[in-house]
Amino acid sequence: MKTFTTDYGTVRVGAPEELFAELAQLGAAAWRTAEKGRFGWALTGGSTPKAWYRWCVEKRALPAELLAETHWYVGDERCVPLASDESNFGNAARLLLDPFGVPAEQRHPWSVDLKPSEAAEAFERDSAAVLGAEHSFTLCVLGLGEDAHTASLFPGSALLGTATNVRFAAIKLVGKGWRLTITPTGLARCGHVVVHATGAAKAQAVRRVFCGEEPALAVPAKVLRVLGPRTTWLLDSEAVAACPQFRG
Ligand code: 6PG
Repeated sequence: MKTFTTDYGTVRVGAPEELFAELAQLGAAAWRTAEKGRFGWALTGGSTPKAWYRWCVEKRALPAELLAETHWYVGDERCVPLASDESNFGNAARLLLDPFGVPAEQRHPWSVDLKPSEAAEAFERDSAAVLGAEHSFTLCVLGLGEDAHTASLFPGSALLGTATNVRFAAIKLVGKGWRLTITPTGLARCGHVVVHATGAAKAQAVRRVFCGEEPALAVPAKVLRVLGPRTTWLLDSEAVAACPQFRG
């Protein structure tokens, strides 16, 4: 695996399976340094994490001690029941938490039964009560969309334009309905962020983050710049194909 230092954090380029193993190791490293009882790991949605969940369970890649102490979240969510295939927490539960036998008190889904704005407020309050006010999450895993969105921060989003103290918010997206999401402020207050993106479809989004001049309003993943070295990007060769500095 190759490692590069950038303004947006550390970029690690490797084969998909190497990236899976690295993500498990980053999780274990974050857990080892966390305050006892306050380790919060936020997972994400999309197809990339599903493949990682399956790999993790097959390889038994998470230590029992970590599983016994981790509080599990997702950084963004659709307003659908947990049973839905569209539910990010539901997918994490079915593919990762259930197979590892994680008990209910360590599972912290968004309250999708509330009004979206109330669900965001409840998430802010409840996560602070469990994890403390200092960090949003100890570790927040994110994906990267083909349009360079991350979490549910899409290009042009009102959440990108204004500074706010709110770490979690509800936002209505054209054509997608309501989403609940960590905000740029919430991301800035994470202990560590990992962006996991693979495949040729992500190459232009990766290029726009690392080689483009556009602002974060157009390339939302650029909000991660404020975290500096606290962000790690796990990318495969296809995802970095349009960035000459990460090739070779
Ligand atoms: C979601 C995510 C979203 C996702 C990216 C990448 O709920 O869909 O939070 O930000 O991570 O769209 O998704 P893929 O892994 O499917 O490419």
